[in-house]
Amino acid sequence: MSYQTFDIQRSITRKQTVALTGLLLILFVIAHLAGNLFIYGGPETFNGYAEKLEHLGPFLKIAEWGLALLFFVHVERVTVLIVQNIRAKGGLKRYIVDNSKGPRSWATRLMPYSGTYLLLYLIWHLYDFTWSNHEGSRSIINGKSYGLYGVVVNSFKDPLHSWLYVLAMCFLGLHLAHGVQSFIQTFAFNDTHVTRGLKKFSRLFAVAMVIGYSSIPLYVLYVLKV
Ligand code: HEM
Repeated sequence: MSYQTFDIQRSITRKQTVALTGLLLILFVIAHLAGNLFIYGGPETFNGYAEKLEHLGPFLKIAEWGLALLFFVHVERVTVLIVQNIRAKGGLKRYIVDNSKGPRSWATRLMPYSGTYLLLYLIWHLYDFTWSNHEGSRSIINGKSYGLYGVVVNSFKDPLHSWLYVLAMCFLGLHLAHGVQSFIQTFAFNDTHVTRGLKKFSRLFAVAMVIGYSSIPLYVLYVLKV
């Protein structure tokens, strides 16, 4: 095998790793949204769901570490691919606006930016909800502690907090719109008809996720009376 063939093979493996870890992260995004929608059931339903997860004990810890590893591998492999592309094409601008395979969508062009925003969002999000004190002052509504439910509601009662979440969800949508389609293309099809169908599907899926996730801060901010 020549050095060049070996290099191309390595790039393909990297792309497949990005796609596979991306798919597993998408499954998490779907499951996480389903769990978060329990907020519409009120404090007992939402906290009950969170407690059920806590009761998984060591399994939850394994899942959390697995998730962290997935995020790490996904971001690290993407970074290597981007650096490799920049080196091959001679600059970040050329990497982003390269049009060699026809016009690229906004979702595709914005992949490095939506990815970076999501990464920063995620650090903030963990600090905000996972690592915060679920029984502290942020959990209190009308003088009573409502646990994790209280933390989420108090956070989203702040318009800036809520709208920064909605912005993050829009970036998530852009990232998903390209990501789902890219996954299927990496592993399966390169046929124009199928590609068109996949594009439509990935856009619909992304819009559903944006609406589902954004509905939570907007519901707390504008509809929920506490
Ligand atoms: C309106 C949108 C969202 C809400 C209300 C929300 C809510 C929450 C809450 C309450 C927790 C803490 C769970 C606990 O400590 O028991 C959490 C954790 C987490 N969230 Fe979100 N989340 C949202 C969007 C997202 C998005 C878009 C992502 C990924 C792109 C994400 C990734 C995570 C991760 C990785 C954790 C830590 C693992 C876990 O505890 O399940 N979240 N989220």
